Amino acid sequence: MSERAIKSRTDAAPLDIQRVRADFPAMSLEVHGRPLVFLDSGASAQKPRVVLDTMRRVYESEYANVHRGAYYLSERSTALYEGARDKLRDFLNARDRKEIIFTRNATESINLVAYAWGRKNLKAGDEIVISAMEHHSNIVPWQMLRDEMGLTLKIAPVSDDGEFLLDAFKALLTDRTKLVAITHVSNVLGTITPVKEIVRLAHDAGAKVLLDGAQAAVHLPVDVQDIGCDFYAVTGHKLYGPTGIGVLYGKEAILDAMPPFMSGGDMIGSVSFEKTTWAPLPAKFEAGTPAIVQAIGLGAAVDYMTGLGREKIAAHEHDLLNYATQRLASIDGLKIYGTAPNKAAVISFTLGDIHAHDVSTIIDRAGVAIRAGHHCAEPLMERLGVAATARASFGVYNTREDADALVKALETVQEIFG
Ligand code: ALA
Repeated sequence: MSERAIKSRTDAAPLDIQRVRADFPAMSLEVHGRPLVFLDSGASAQKPRVVLDTMRRVYESEYANVHRGAYYLSERSTALYEGARDKLRDFLNARDRKEIIFTRNATESINLVAYAWGRKNLKAGDEIVISAMEHHSNIVPWQMLRDEMGLTLKIAPVSDDGEFLLDAFKALLTDRTKLVAITHVSNVLGTITPVKEIVRLAHDAGAKVLLDGAQAAVHLPVDVQDIGCDFYAVTGHKLYGPTGIGVLYGKEAILDAMPPFMSGGDMIGSVSFEKTTWAPLPAKFEAGTPAIVQAIGLGAAVDYMTGLGREKIAAHEHDLLNYATQRLASIDGLKIYGTAPNKAAVISFTLGDIHAHDVSTIIDRAGVAIRAGHHCAEPLMERLGVAATARASFGVYNTREDADALVKALETVQEIFG
C-alpha cells in the first residue's frame, strides 16, 4: 500500500480538493476561452496523472504480451497485469483473485453473464427481473436472451421520486425467477438501490443476482462479499481509469460451472482437432490478448482512489450533491428528476420547456460540460414522462464553485430563451 493510502486510513481530515484537482491534467483546461467545469463524469471520468504516467511507463519500458513469454519483459508485463487483478480484488473485496475477470467494460461483463451463464442455466418459462431504471446495457442483453429462449422479463417499478420499490419488487419474485439484474446506482436519477435487501429477497426466491455497478463503484465503497451478489459489473473509464477495460466479479463456484463466453487463445487448457479443454479461472473468460496496459492503468486508478480514501470521496461528493441540489432548486422552472433520499452525485433536470440539448450546447460556451438526452435509459425516460433531461454528474475533482458555475450558466440560458 502506498504511503498516501496508509495516511488516508489514519487521517480524518477531508480531501484537499485543490490537491486532487492538480492530479488531473484536464482540470486545468480551458474550453471556449473559459476554465473547464466538467460535470459529465457519469459518462466518463477524467484521468489522474498517475494513470497516464503508469500506462506510458508500461508501454515504454515494461511491455510485452502476457502469459506467453519466458523472458524478462513478458514476465514483467504479466506480473503487472496480474497485479492489477489483485488490486481490483481488493477494491471490490472479492474473496479470491480468480473471481475478477477483465472485460472490455460493464456492458461486456453483463453480456458475458447473459450468454455464458444464461444460455446454460435458463430455460423457456424462466423469469428475469430488472428494474425500470436500468441502462440499456442491463436491458437489451436480457431482452435478446428472452426472445431467443422464451423467457419472461419482469420490470420492478420505481416511485415518482426515483426510489426502488422493494415491496413491489418482492411481489414480482416467483419460483420461476432465476435471475435478478439491477443497477446499484441509476445513471440518470442517482438513486442508490437497496442492494443487500434485493440480494436477500432474490436469494430467498432461489434466484441469482447481477448488479450493474458501472455508476456505483466510483461513488461508493463496494464490498461484494458483504452485498452477497453473485455477479457485479464495473467499467474502468468511469473509475478514473482508461477506456477499453472493465471487470466482471463472479462467485468462484458459479464462474467455474459456466462455459466460456468467447474462445480462442489464452483461455484453453489444451487444443486438438478432436477436443479442447478450458483453462482454469480467470483465464477461461479472457480469450485473446487482453487489454494489458488498460488493466494496469485501471489498477493505478483504483490505487489512486484508495489512496484518497473512498469514504472521503463519498463524503465530498455527498456535500456537492446537497449543495448543487439546493442551488439548482432555486432556479425558476428547473425540475430535478430523482430525489430519492439515498442517492449519488448525479442530478438530472429539465429547465422549463427548453430542450436539454439546447441547455447543454449553450452552457458549453461558458465552459460547462454536462450530458443531455435519454442517457441510454429510454424506458426510464418514458416512465418519467420526458423525452430528455440534462444531467450534471460530479466526480472527486468537482467543487462547490463548479455547481455555482452551472447555476450561473443556466441563468444565461433562461435569459436567452426569455
Ligand atoms: N452510461 C454512460 C452515461 O450514463 C455513458 O452517461
